[in-house]
Amino acid sequence: MIPLIFALPGNEALAEGLASALAAEVGQAEFRRFPDGESYVRLLSDVEGRSVVLVDTLAEPDDKALPLLFTAALAKDLGASRVGLVAPYLAYMRQDRRFHPGEAVTSTYFGRLVSRWVDWLVTVDPHLHRRASLDEIYAVPSRIVHAAPVISDWIVENIERPVLVGPDRESEQWVSTVAGHAAAPYIVLTKSRHGDRDVEIAVPDVETWRDYTPVLVDDIISTAQTMIVTVRGLEKAGMPAPVCIGVHAVFAGSALGDLRAAGVARIVTCNTIPHETNAIDLTEPIAKAVSAFNGRD
Ligand code: R5P
Repeated sequence: MIPLIFALPGNEALAEGLASALAAEVGQAEFRRFPDGESYVRLLSDVEGRSVVLVDTLAEPDDKALPLLFTAALAKDLGASRVGLVAPYLAYMRQDRRFHPGEAVTSTYFGRLVSRWVDWLVTVDPHLHRRASLDEIYAVPSRIVHAAPVISDWIVENIERPVLVGPDRESEQWVSTVAGHAAAPYIVLTKSRHGDRDVEIAVPDVETWRDYTPVLVDDIISTAQTMIVTVRGLEKAGMPAPVCIGVHAVFAGSALGDLRAAGVARIVTCNTIPHETNAIDLTEPIAKAVSAFNGRD
């Protein structure tokens, strides 16, 4: 039977896109809050015996986690054969160890919570830094979609003479792959983070790249401080205004305005979190990953 895809609030566009790419059906559901703030969830489509896919990107996860877990529990309660989760942005990946005594290792706890309710997981470039694989965090099978090839295609189509710039060592994994696909050169800078909004970047000698368009690539743009400090460093080094590409458009608080004000040529993100900067569509590779759990790989 064809999968039944439900969009949690705010995920309708991707759910529709996936349904069309997978020749699947979009399920009808009702989500709302009771006056006291508790969540109300109702599945209007019949899920009995069906393979259910929940689409819920997990930026600002605290408000989303309970409706998601209730929906997964409800689908199983009503007889769904399997319940999978497409969370293009996977939350709670950065607090992956106890940096200070007494801190919660929330990536582990969140992984345990989600794994209790869903049978499989598809996500896009999760922030795997100190963990080698999602299997260390999630007890259910998962597939990771890599945005790099699609980002490379976008760069090839839109930027003349790009030089890719990774703001820190962690970004090298994305930057080197994107650069490889786009047949473009790349440099990686050195970042030190002293606090949530206190970031320092060391820019190497960029004389060779003066006539190139710098293209910053990072996985997450959250406070945008990493990008902002990099933009300023490149400007100081005499480079032209850069194009900033982030996989996940988290943009906490005033981050988007702050980054624009830093003097960038353009800000571009993938559609893992719906945002006005989305220009790179990952529906197809996400659909391919989902089909692996629905016997259509
Ligand atoms: C860091 O490890 C990540 O790859 C990003 O560089 C970081 O999350 C960006 O955060 P922010 O936008 O707050 O500087």
